[in-house]
Amino acid sequence: MNEKQIIENTISFVKETLKNAEGGHDWFHTHRVLKNSQLIAKTEEVNVFIISLGALLHDIADSKFHNGDETIGPKVAAEFLQNQNVDAIVIEHVIQIINNISFKGGKVTRTFSSKELDVVQDADRLDAIGAVGIARTFNYGGFKNRVIYNPEIQPALNMTKEEYKNSTAPTINHFYEKLLLLKDKMNTETGKQLAQQRHEFMELYLKQFYAEWGGEL
Ligand code: ADP
Ligand code: NI
Repeated sequence: MNEKQIIENTISFVKETLKNAEGGHDWFHTHRVLKNSQLIAKTEEVNVFIISLGALLHDIADSKFHNGDETIGPKVAAEFLQNQNVDAIVIEHVIQIINNISFKGGKVTRTFSSKELDVVQDADRLDAIGAVGIARTFNYGGFKNRVIYNPEIQPALNMTKEEYKNSTAPTINHFYEKLLLLKDKMNTETGKQLAQQRHEFMELYLKQFYAEWGGEL
């Protein structure tokens, strides 16, 4: 099977698998990450086939939606790619991307590094910030029935991976616990540039939010 055919089959598989997914982790999120990855890849020397497969499969079974089990996503992705007769070395690289892409409170160190992981991670992070990032965050907070904002509950900046995963804090806190930290964690130059503009938009959004909340507008 050629690469184009494998990508097409992967798109169909992901669309079908994510058809009932939460709105911030659905096919449209995956599609945006694919497009962002391909955009960033233009300014990097990378294998676009690996990047595309990594982007397409990175949220195939997010542990948040599978009782915290981090092994299902890589397993499902590996089985699918084996059935497509993808080279073992490519499968291994894609699985490493899936295993190492996540933020998890910013407290985990990578067990693997590659330019391809850098690109897909930046693309996923870009989709966590800016206007789309804000929408996804409130959608997730609603999905978990969290309050939007509570001025009495401060953001927690030094959470362990477990605390981050189990947090039930107001959704606005997530801006301080993750979204606003991402621009300084971007790997690629293109990613950094794109993140800066989205970051400024979030700062403007928060300023307006507090002004409205405080009755100043
Ligand atoms: P990571 O594991 O890299 O943090 P996630 O899949 O957890 O990635 O996060 C993706 C997006 O889901 C976040 O950018 C945010 O929009 C939303 N999200 C995740 N956790 C929370 C949370 N505790 N509160 C609000 N939104 C969240
Ligand atoms: Ni993602």
